Order: sequence, then structure tokens, then C-alpha cells
Amino acid sequence: MIETGKLQRAAQAAAKQRCINAACGASFDLHARLYVCPNCGDLLDVAVRTTADEDPEGLRTVWTSRLASFDPRDRSGVWRYRELLPFAADTHIVTLSEGNTPIYDAPVSAAYCELDALTLKHQGCNPTGSFKDTGMTTAVTQAVILGARTVVCASTGNTAASLAAYAARAELQCAILVPRGQVSHAKLAQSLDYGAAVLELDGNFDDAMRVIRELAEDEEIYLVNSINPFRIEGQKTVAVELLHQRNWRVPDHVVVPGGNLGNSSALGKGFKELKDLRLIDRLPRLSVVQAEGAAPFATLFGSESDMLRPIERPQTLATAIKIGAPVSWKKALQAVLETGGRALSVSEQEIADAKAIIGRDGVGCEPASATTVAGIKRLVASGDIGSETDVVAVLTGHILKDSDYAIDYHLNQLYTIDSATSRTKEDRHLASTYSNPPARVKATKDAILEGLLRHQSEHRD
Ligand code: F0G
Repeated sequence: MIETGKLQRAAQAAAKQRCINAACGASFDLHARLYVCPNCGDLLDVAVRTTADEDPEGLRTVWTSRLASFDPRDRSGVWRYRELLPFAADTHIVTLSEGNTPIYDAPVSAAYCELDALTLKHQGCNPTGSFKDTGMTTAVTQAVILGARTVVCASTGNTAASLAAYAARAELQCAILVPRGQVSHAKLAQSLDYGAAVLELDGNFDDAMRVIRELAEDEEIYLVNSINPFRIEGQKTVAVELLHQRNWRVPDHVVVPGGNLGNSSALGKGFKELKDLRLIDRLPRLSVVQAEGAAPFATLFGSESDMLRPIERPQTLATAIKIGAPVSWKKALQAVLETGGRALSVSEQEIADAKAIIGRDGVGCEPASATTVAGIKRLVASGDIGSETDVVAVLTGHILKDSDYAIDYHLNQLYTIDSATSRTKEDRHLASTYSNPPARVKATKDAILEGLLRHQSEHRD
């Protein structure tokens, strides 16, 4: 076990929960079971001590030395950076060796966006296949500290799968609330297999979120949606791991998908803390991309208003981000504005094509994650991002999270769902611009060689 000791003890001792509303300014003990400020109702975050009197070089050295350690805390790409987390040094952690996700150079995606180079940080390579694990390890650890018996979340699928796994590890009862018929099979299968009580709700994610917050008023039930500031604490370490992997070379621009906006809030917090600690000397621009039919944050960003207007019936095939009333929009807005980033939306067609392109890099991702590359392409076209810019797209979920979508695209059978209007099926059809359908062949060598030739000629760019 490798410790910097002083900083971790100080981070824990000085940490508190704090209302994000500066006019309120209330703060609370770390062990107060809260989700929003009891005084003004605004969001909470965890203030850890990140003053600059610690030697940044010392932290870098310790974190790097942990890469060769077998201590379970050092094997986790979240707890490796525990000096930045509000937990005591002897905390019993609930971990699945989360984090440690790769960064990939993505030349096909870069060319598609008209960039010289593009880096993909693949959070889909987490134990349950999405970025949620980096926050679930800390939130479920906090649930154990607080003595909760039951952990709950509302989810479009990934949070549910992640919580179900970590709750199983911690031997806690787990209930997940998901919109019925709107969660991919893979995500549902995970939650069932991990033993959670899966409650399918007639309604959408926002309805589930509302109900679950009422449920969490019960003392023994602990809510671990990203409204919970301990989720954000774990997720912020993605910023640290990314910079560590890049030997502390700050990217110019980091682009993430936006749903409930916990991820963008967490990355914003992570980068800011790294700067406060002098581990980096500038902040990357942080941009958030939403799907056109579920884009209240992008709409807010482009308007004069300073209040988010929820969308009652969000629509997108990227079901992970089919959210009309994102809980963490204030935190995300602050991060985007502070770093000079953008919030924008992209169409279903753009998402589908960008996803296929990410696949061609040999990487792949679920539809929600592909909003990043679609958004970057737009930002390059509009001149917001120059072709030489050092850009990182954060892919949030694994391709196998939604294989039906991929199959439908390649079979040229992908249709948007648009219940609000009376568009015909033909109108709702998405073009399979980069389709790669399977071919049936006879079981002979000649037929196979012919099939290969045909594939080659059809896919020559
Ligand atoms: N990408 C994926 C794959 C997701 O599952 C989610 C959110 C997001 C992006 C958006 O992240 O909410 O932090 O802005 N999924 C949640 C869930 C809502 O329940 O699994 P966000």
C-alpha cells in the first residue's frame, strides 16, 4: 500500500457537503444522509481540501508507483487517486477494479471529423460496461458507511446495471426503477443477473427519477443517482486518470454526451481540482452533446434564459440519454461556461453514422456515446474546433450494451420512434450510410472467396 498520508487525511478531515448555491452557502457533515440542500433545495457537492500546498510532483509519483501495486485500492482507477476522495484511509471499499479504461488514437473518427487526430477515452471498458462504475464504487461505499440496507436508483439502464453489481458485492438489497420497454436487453439482463429487484415503470426516466426521490425519504433507503454527490466524487477521477495517462498533457477540448448531466459535472469538478492542486496549469474546454429530441441543456445553452426548461416527452434511439429534466444541469452549466465549452445537439442520423465510424476504428460504443464524435464533427465544421486541436471524446458505454441498434443499422432497418407526430415509417427511416450487412454464402471455398471480393469492392472508400 502506497500512501501520501498527509494529503489523504487532510482531504478527509476538511471535507464536507456543500450547497452549490453561493447565496445559501450551507455546509453539512460528510455523514449527513442528504441529496439536496435541506435549506434551499439546491444540489450539493462535496468540498474536499484541494489547496496548493501539497507538492504536485509528490502526488504524481505516488499515483504512478501505484500502477505496479497489487493492493485492491491501487488496482482501481478510482481509489488509486484517493487523496482527492472524501473517505478515511481505512475505509472498507466496495470495488470491482473499476476505471483503468484505455485511451485510443482514432484515425478513422478523426478523418470523419476533419481533425488531424482524435483520442477516445473508452469508459465502456469498465466492469459493467459503462462509466457509471467509477461513481458507483464511491456511492455504494458511502451507502455501507451510512449503514443503508437498500440502495435504489432510477435509470435508463446503465446506472441500474452498475448499481446492481456493486450492491451485490456489498450484499445490499438493490431496487432499480426503469422505464418499461425503453431499456436495452443487455442492460436489463445485467441487472437481472446481478440479482437486483427490477421495477419496470409505466413512464419515462424523468417519472422514475421523481418517484425514486420520494422513496429515498425513507431512512434505510439510499439513493445513488448522480444527484448523490458521492457518485460525482468517483466519476471526477476519470479526469485524473485521463491526465495521468497523457502524462499530464492537458487536452484542448474534452467532449462528453449529456443526459442527466452527472458525467459532465463530475469531469468539470475533476479538472478544476487538478488545476487547484497545480497538477495542470489550464482547464480543457468541456463540451456536452445531446440528442436532438432530448436536448434541454443544449437549448438552454443557446438561449438567453438562465433556467433549464424540461422536455416533457424526450425522444431518441440513444435510450441512455433519453432524459427531459436533467438533475445536474446547474453543475454542468457552470463547468461548460467556466471552461469556454459548448452545449449542442445532434440528429439521430448523425448519431447513427458517428457510431458506425467509431466502430471502424475497431473501438465501437453504444449510441449515446457516439453523440461525441457527431458533435465534434459539427464543432469542426462551424470553426469552434480547429483541425489541429487536441480533442478527447469520452465514450461512455460499450458497443454490446445495445447490439440491436447496431444490427438494425447494418441491416438498414433503423427507424426513429416519433409518437408525437404522425410521420410515416419511410420518414422515420435512418440511412445506413456506413452499413456492413452480413452476406449469406454457400459452404464452398469459391463462394467464400467471391464473398470476400464483393465485400472488399463494396467497402472501398
Ligand atoms: N452515456 C451513457 C452510455 C449513459 O448511460 C448515460 C446516462 C449518459 C451517457 C449520460 O450521462 O446522465 O451523466 O449526463 N445514463 C443514465 C442511466 C441516465 O440511468 O444509466 P449523464
